[in-house]
Amino acid sequence: MRFYTTVMRREDIDQILAIENVSFPSPWGRKAFESELENPNARNIIVKEKRADGADRVVGYVCFWFVADEIHIMNIAVSLEYRRQGIGTKLLQQVFSEGCQKQRKVAVLETRPSNQPAISFYKKFGFKVVGRRPGYYSETGEDALIMSRQL
Ligand SMILES: CC(C)(COP(=O)(O)OP(=O)(O)OC[C@H]1O[C@@H](n2cnc3c(N)ncnc32)[C@H](O)[C@@H]1OP(=O)(O)O)[C@@H](O)C(=O)NCCC(=O)NCCS
Repeated sequence: MRFYTTVMRREDIDQILAIENVSFPSPWGRKAFESELENPNARNIIVKEKRADGADRVVGYVCFWFVADEIHIMNIAVSLEYRRQGIGTKLLQQVFSEGCQKQRKVAVLETRPSNQPAISFYKKFGFKVVGRRPGYYSETGEDALIMSRQL
């Protein structure tokens, strides 16, 4: 299998930051990922591409939290040149599968109304807009859409 899912480790963070920095207007820094790795309520999953030389490469990641009976998706991104190849789907399926295994009821996330690719992506998997947080993104003053989906 060319792409496989595994758990994020500290040594993956350099490759993750390279994806993060070209994916978001306000990217997370190294400390944010390190803190996710230390958070007992967080799960951090990556997709890697298998390489013949053994230097498998991170091509996408998702960070999510278990909060009461919900799952909160905190961050998800796929390397630019690997988008539209089902990697985001693989990551979301892992989130849903872990949520169901732990009997969580709903998955929740926030996204920018301007992020049409992400909104289309989430809608494909049954997420619906359920609310709005005014001025949530402080650097641009943009609102956040709250999207959720039953698990
Ligand atoms: C959103 C994101 C994670 C999707 O990852 P991906 O690996 O490209 O997604 P997939 O290939 O699994 O796409 C699954 C479906 O989502 C929808 N979709 C994904 N990207 C889309 C786009 N740019 N425009 C419209 N629909 C899109 C399509 O329905 C797609 O199915 P299709 O390719 O058969 O048409 C990726 O675009 C990304 O990293 N964006 C930057 C970071 C980001 O915005 N994260 C979300 C923050 S809230």
